[in-house]
Amino acid sequence: MKSIREEIEQLKEEKNAVILAHYYVPEEVQEIADYIGDSYYLAKKAKETKAEVIVFAGVSFMGESAKILNPSKKVLMPDADADCAMAHMASIEKVKEMREKYEDLAVVCYINSTAELKTVSDVCVTSSNAVKIVKALPNKNIFFIPDRNLGAYVAEQVPEKHVIPNDGYCPVHKEIAPQILKEAKEKYPNAKVLVHPECMQEVLKMADFTGSTSEIIQYAETSLEKEFLIGTEEGVLYELKKKCPEKTFHCVRKGQCCPDMKKVTLEKVRDSLKYGSHEVQVSRDISEKALKALDKMLELAK
Ligand code: 13P
Ligand code: SF4
Repeated sequence: MKSIREEIEQLKEEKNAVILAHYYVPEEVQEIADYIGDSYYLAKKAKETKAEVIVFAGVSFMGESAKILNPSKKVLMPDADADCAMAHMASIEKVKEMREKYEDLAVVCYINSTAELKTVSDVCVTSSNAVKIVKALPNKNIFFIPDRNLGAYVAEQVPEKHVIPNDGYCPVHKEIAPQILKEAKEKYPNAKVLVHPECMQEVLKMADFTGSTSEIIQYAETSLEKEFLIGTEEGVLYELKKKCPEKTFHCVRKGQCCPDMKKVTLEKVRDSLKYGSHEVQVSRDISEKALKALDKMLELAK
């Protein structure tokens, strides 16, 4: 009898499929992926791929973005309910209100957002290119949706602009609270602290480095330090330990876990390939409008 991994390999060939996985999905799913990365890397891979089918081991905004960037491909989500809570934490009405208030407003939309929110945005960003893209925009006034923390981080890094963050947040990164980080630093005084910009400002101020998941991995890989405290979802530890077997990594707190990312199991990856289940559908109207914001990100992030 074939193992699930062997079944997936065979189905991938039969269907001419590629598997993209985010660093937060379970280790065994990362292991069978063709490409693993942060949101920016995965969006680029989704746009470039020649495969007919994209299986996106991640949450719904990732699959939607892949479909919008490459509409002729079939995009499959192993778990139809794997969603990002923050992706819904902004409203089209608020965007309209802000556009009326500021004549020159640019609406900058974190890729962790619904396709509908992208349709009313000027440009998308990810955590690895948000600062670069906001700097490059001609507009002075920026409404940053949905994440208040990444928005506040960008505001600090680009002081020449007036960046107004919306009030969304990531429930997983919110739990990495300043007091918990303080205690972890006391427990591991020699560890360098690497955090994701979805953490709150007080946490970023206590860190040695702030970056996307890929940037955190790259920092640890190239650093001369040997011990690190990681302030993002625990899934990144799989790649960190693989790339740096001689280094030590601790989570800031127990249970730094995105329950939606963990819904993506090997069995579900196999079933989505086998039955073509949970195909991403985005209406033509939404897709065409959202594509402008995503394409602008790819152009400005180069
Ligand atoms: P990255 O783009 O840094 O991988 O972040 C994605 C995400 O969902 C963080 O919570
Ligand atoms: Fe969304 Fe947070 Fe999960 Fe990332 S970790 S997918 S921002 S809920």
